[in-house]
Order: sequence, then C-alpha cells, then structure tokens
Amino acid sequence: MTQLAGGSAVTPRPAGARANRRSAGRAIAVTGGAGFIGSHLCEALVGAGHAVSCLDNFQTGRRANVEFLEASGKFTLCEHDVVEPWPGGLPRFDEIYHLACPASPAHYQADRVKTALTCALGTLNTLRRAQRDGAVLVHASTSEVYGDPEVHPQIESYFGNVNSVGPRSCYDEGKRFAETLATDFGRQKGVLVRMARIFNTFGPRMQANDGRVVSNFIVQALQGADITIYGAGDQTRSFCFVDDMVEGLRRLMEGGEAVVGPVNMGSPVETTIGELARIVIDMTGSRSRIVHRPLPIDDPRRRRPDISKAQASLGWRPQISLRDGLARTIAYFEREIGGEGAKIGGRVPASATPARASAEIRP
Ligand SMILES: NC(=O)c1ccc[n+]([C@@H]2O[C@H](COP(=O)([O-])OP(=O)(O)OC[C@H]3O[C@@H](n4cnc5c(N)ncnc54)[C@H](O)[C@@H]3O)[C@@H](O)[C@H]2O)c1
Repeated sequence: MTQLAGGSAVTPRPAGARANRRSAGRAIAVTGGAGFIGSHLCEALVGAGHAVSCLDNFQTGRRANVEFLEASGKFTLCEHDVVEPWPGGLPRFDEIYHLACPASPAHYQADRVKTALTCALGTLNTLRRAQRDGAVLVHASTSEVYGDPEVHPQIESYFGNVNSVGPRSCYDEGKRFAETLATDFGRQKGVLVRMARIFNTFGPRMQANDGRVVSNFIVQALQGADITIYGAGDQTRSFCFVDDMVEGLRRLMEGGEAVVGPVNMGSPVETTIGELARIVIDMTGSRSRIVHRPLPIDDPRRRRPDISKAQASLGWRPQISLRDGLARTIAYFEREIGGEGAKIGGRVPASATPARASAEIRP
C-alpha cells in the first residue's frame, strides 16, 4: 500500500543532476525513517533545512516518532513497503538513507521470511531508485555480519563467523547479502553506495517491548521488576548513543569518494551486560534484582568495533558517554511509561513490559 501524508511537495530535480553534498535544501529519502534511528535521522535532516521523505511500512516504526516533523513543511511521510518497487509521486532524490528493516531479534524473527525479503528485495528496490535518481545511497548494515566473532575488536576486513541456518540468519545473512548486492550493484550500475556497519545503538524512541538489552533493563528497573540477564552477564557489547550514530551516518553520506567499502560505526568502549545492568539499577535508583536465564542460540560473546576507518576517513567517533546517553534514555522511558507507572515498583502498561520469551541481548 502506498500513501502520501502531510508535508509539502518537493521540487523534482533534473535527471542526473547532483546537489552539492554540503549545501542545504537537498531532497533526501529515508527508508525506515519512522523507526528508532531513522526518526532521529529525519529530525536532524529536516533541522538542517533538507526536504525529507520518509518511507516506512510501520512494521516496527511509529507515526508518532516523526509526525511532528510535518509542521516544518519539509517532511513527507509515505507508507510504503520497500519489498515492493518504490511508489510514484515522489521527488527525485539527491540522497537516500536505507534503514528499512526490523532490527531487534524479537521483531526480525517474528516473520523470518519477510525479514530476508526486506534485506534482499528492499535493498534491490532502493538501489534501483538511487540509480534512477543519480542519488548517493547510505546503506544501514550491521555488526551482525560478523556473527559470533573470532577476531576482536571487529575490523572491516574480518569476514565474520555467521550461522546461515540459525534463528538469526534471516537478519545476519540477509544483511550480508544486502552488502553484497549493494556493492555489486554500485560497481555495475555506477551508483555511489556507502555502507555503515552499525553496532548497538540506543536512545529515546527505542520500543519498550522489543527485547533489546538497554530498553529491557531500563523498563525492568523502572518497574522494579527482575532484571533479566541471558547467560552469566560477562558477554560484552559496546553502546553508542543515537545522536552520535546519526552524526556518523550523515558524515558517511557527505564523505568523499575515498570512503570505499563498509565502515564500522559504534562505540569503541566495551561494557559487560552485567555491568550495564548494575549501571541502570544505580541510575534509576531501582530495587530490582538481577536474575539469569539461559543464553540464546548463536549469541555473540564479545562485540566491539574497531572504528579506526571511521575516525581516519570521516573524523568521526562517538562523543556521548554511556551514562549521559542512559540518562536521556531513562528520562524518555519515564515519560513514555508515564505517571505513577514510571515509579519504581509501580504498575506499567502491558505494552511497556519488555519482551521475555524471545528477548535477546543485541539488535
Ligand atoms: N539499533 C541498532 O542498534 C542497530 C544495529 C545495527 C544495525 N541497525 C540497522 O539500522 C536500521 C534501523 O534500525 P532501528 O534500530 O532504527 O530499527 P527499527 O526497527 O526501530 O526501525 C526499522 C524501521 O524500518 C521499517 N521497516 C521494516 N521493514 C520495512 C519494510 N519492508 N518496508 C518499509 N519499512 C520497513 C520499520 O517499520 C521501522 O520504522 C536497520 O536497518 C537495522 O538493521 C540498527
């Protein structure tokens, strides 16, 4: 289904014309723009004076994440499934950010075939649109392409350790295939493609019930419920605040022709899951207890990016500390859960209860 809502029309640009990457007023599409990272990206791009079209099927995203941008007159919300060819009625784009894909295990495993198709056909349709418009494309890949890594920290030249037939494969292998397709399509068809391998990112607008570790822990702590750690809690992740990630994606878009191949984006600071739980308990003043559950299949033990390529080629590294980012995220969930329910031990709406059965600790 295709539906355009709100926002002003964007003037089409003549075929083949490319805007100055640094100038304001570019026409930009963001697939998955109503999701967690996408909504912050749309907000930043509209704030910088660009005309932004968000394409989203609302599988995991929410209108409420971006609807407020329509008042700017620079934002158009288009309900569209990227597995289908792009709809008519859209302007010619200078830039496309391709983020459409559910990112949390609870969501991407709910319909694994759909996830695989979103990675494959969704990326193909988006590449075709970039070719048609002469747009630069930034593709959101993931640290999951490294699987359960045998090389630490993970560097872009590492090929990964991924199970092709496990419960996570629709996403992990789907994203690996999307990288291959984007690379070959770019080479063969002359489309300028850039790829961000995104590591764990957190912040406001994560969903309370999507099973990601930061939102799980915060909601559980605010409820005064048990904090669930899968495994012993000595497995590590590195957590990047969403504002830093948005800045990284924008720099990748604006980077010169020299930025070739995938670029790791994430925090180089490694934290154990047990330590994260203790920090969240401390920052919320919660009386929650930590309880342990069996580790899910194929759960990676360590995860930390080597970001030297992003630093050297884009001058990017995260600026916001884990505690500062958590403070903003906790404040968001307090508002989201609302009123008395946000108080420790208080009742919260069922929708705010973290996913448990399928909860895993990484996006
Ligand atoms: N958040 C992270 O830590 C993280 C880590 C690695 C990679 N990523 C990647 O970044 C991107 C955004 O992740 P997020 O955390 O914002 O996830 P999210 O689930 O909040 O957002 C994904 C968005 O894509 C939309 N979408 C899904 N399938 C679609 C389809 N077929 N057609 C149109 N829209 C569709 C959803 O409705 C949602 O708005 C994803 O591609 C994800 O793989 C995220």
